[in-house]
Amino acid sequence: MKARSTKAPRVRALIRAWVILATVLSCLGATPRRANHDEAKVAPYVLPDPLRLEDGRRVASAQGWERDRRPELLRLFESQVYGRFPPAPKIFRWRVVREEARAMDGLATRRDVVLDLPEPGSSEPSTPVLRFTVFIPNRVEQPVPAFVGVHLFDTSKPAPTPAVARDPDHTSFPENVGDEVGRSILRRGYALASLDTQELAPDSTNNYANGALRLLGLAPSAAGRADDAPGALGAWAWGLARSLDYFSTDRSVDSSAVVVIGHSRMGKAALWAGANDPRFAAIIANGSGCGGAALSKRDFGETVGIITHAFPHWFCPQFANFADHEERLPVDQHQLIALLAPRPVYLASAEKDSWADPKGEFLAAVHASPVFQILGTEGLPTSPEPALDQPIGTRLRYHLRRGRHDLTEVDWARFLGFAEAEVRHPAIARRLASHERLDAAAALRQSHTWFASRSAAVLATNVLSHQSSHGAWPKNTNTAAAPYTGDPAQRRGTFDNGATLGELRFLARFQRVTGDKPARAALQRGLHHILEAQYASGGWPQSYPPGSGYARHITFNDNTMVRILEFLREVPRSPDFAFLEPERLEECRAAFNRGIDCILQCQVRVEGVLTVWCAQHDAITFEPRPARSFEPVSLSGAESARVLHLLMDLKSDRPDIHQAIRAGAAWFARSALPDLYVVRSDDDVLVIAEPGAPPIWARFYDIPTNRPIFTGRDGVVRGSLAEIEHERRNGYAWYGTWGQDVARRFADWSVGR
Ligand code: GCU
Repeated sequence: MKARSTKAPRVRALIRAWVILATVLSCLGATPRRANHDEAKVAPYVLPDPLRLEDGRRVASAQGWERDRRPELLRLFESQVYGRFPPAPKIFRWRVVREEARAMDGLATRRDVVLDLPEPGSSEPSTPVLRFTVFIPNRVEQPVPAFVGVHLFDTSKPAPTPAVARDPDHTSFPENVGDEVGRSILRRGYALASLDTQELAPDSTNNYANGALRLLGLAPSAAGRADDAPGALGAWAWGLARSLDYFSTDRSVDSSAVVVIGHSRMGKAALWAGANDPRFAAIIANGSGCGGAALSKRDFGETVGIITHAFPHWFCPQFANFADHEERLPVDQHQLIALLAPRPVYLASAEKDSWADPKGEFLAAVHASPVFQILGTEGLPTSPEPALDQPIGTRLRYHLRRGRHDLTEVDWARFLGFAEAEVRHPAIARRLASHERLDAAAALRQSHTWFASRSAAVLATNVLSHQSSHGAWPKNTNTAAAPYTGDPAQRRGTFDNGATLGELRFLARFQRVTGDKPARAALQRGLHHILEAQYASGGWPQSYPPGSGYARHITFNDNTMVRILEFLREVPRSPDFAFLEPERLEECRAAFNRGIDCILQCQVRVEGVLTVWCAQHDAITFEPRPARSFEPVSLSGAESARVLHLLMDLKSDRPDIHQAIRAGAAWFARSALPDLYVVRSDDDVLVIAEPGAPPIWARFYDIPTNRPIFTGRDGVVRGSLAEIEHERRNGYAWYGTWGQDVARRFADWSVGR
């Protein structure tokens, strides 16, 4: 009896427990359909057309996409999948809480950065909402491109270390950048940043809103979550966008070359960040799977039902309504990829990662392609299907790696190659194109790999288009920045201001690396032009044909003559010009020697004493000549300095060259102007007496008195700067420190002579 009486309440308790459990389970939502891993069982599905507007019209142009379809799609992803994307905060504060110049054995500078926001209702940014660590490579040309991702490495360690999950709910989250990979990224010249999730949005169903979403007023209220309320993915993506705000203030990072990257759930976040923030230069999603790159309507691997059941806090509540009803979704993930176009996008999968549906990730790229194409970029063709370990595509790229769900060294090696070609090389080209003139010196500092890139080829094609029929290039133009679009017959060239020589140097390096034939032909024409332009007396006019104005004189002005000679000296010695025939190289040597003889002939003798040079000399008699009204016959304190540098560079044993150098240096020594100080104010130049001031030199000295002279547009020679008009006084380099370098170089040159 006893036994019976105790058994009944136990059964009742058990039944009660079942009822409670069943109720709880039904509140959590029905158990989703199990994942399909059999390709043969994938049911037919229909994907929405990325270019078709909700009203049925189809956009057919880049403009239609940008104006109508893109915003519409972005709204659909907000309302159906990820929730509203929070705007950038108005009140905030950045803090660099730790800075270490010699992190990772001196390889990188480490910065730990914190973003603070105000508590709701307050205007004082007091609460940390985002914390990340960035390693910036030392000893490389800055600013550098960067990779940024959420939880890429463990920021609590001194160097990139694979993080272990730091929140209790999901312990299996794999992070991927270890020390070796971290070092190789930094050695390649990229910064690497990893965002923490703790303050931003912990990866936990109970806690995810207890960070950015709470501070932004987007946390669930007592009434629950709105259908389009953002979840953790939205918060992570928002954090990534904020890191870009920071990078635009950090001078060591090129904020126009930041790649957002993520693996798995953070790959989903990277894609959503890239879709919302067009400032990301490229987007890489590795094994991002369901809710990332994989198509939702393709029933393979993880489903909307499974993911919203296991991770309800990642998405907006509306997404769960498509559990096991993916066919009702008005969007699919290929359209998320399309929102990244035309930027470089790399999607990667692993062969054994069927949970993430590798094929679905590939097909998303394929079906996003029409958008890339309409925006002028290549997409990916449907076939052939990607072979194992064979990346396909260019700007939109995909690979299927051997192995399982992970972000491995192999993946990183490919991502680095991709970033190099699609982000860094174009960034270099953009920078070179942004200078006012073609800056050949800056271009020649770039690697051969850059010269071999498509970006360099675009610049070279632009340069080629500007070459005049005579073989020269115009001055004060960045001929690499854009193609010449005017009348080809109107193209003019000059040697003034370094024009033509910069183009030749740029093209010479380019053809050396690429073997490009048009560049070689242009170089032949350009060299022929230089050689043809040389007078029998050995000098060069400012441009050729010389015309009848002052530009026909042998032009030392603005170092034209010296620049041409430096160039001709370089040609037979530089591997960039090794493709030229030996006879051509010999012609360059001979022209150079004639130029040096011409320099010696031009050196002005005043009352029997050798001095320096005028800015122009007669092409036949070698006598000094005037140019514009304010450039009279005179001795030049500016141009003569660079002539002397060239002569000293020769390290020649010729006595006539030694004599020229000694005479020139002596002239500089006796023509120094002591105790003067040139003050530049906002709107004028003043010369004031300043006892003890370092010596300066005037641009022009009178022949024969050797007094500094100043001339305005009226052509009247005067004895002080103050006497000429404001416009000329301020529009010309009348004084300089040119003789200081001459003295230094001369002291070295004289040693042992
Ligand atoms: C789970 C989840 C995936 C996710 C992965 C990860 O497996 O189902 O969608 O990508 O975790 O983030 O590692």
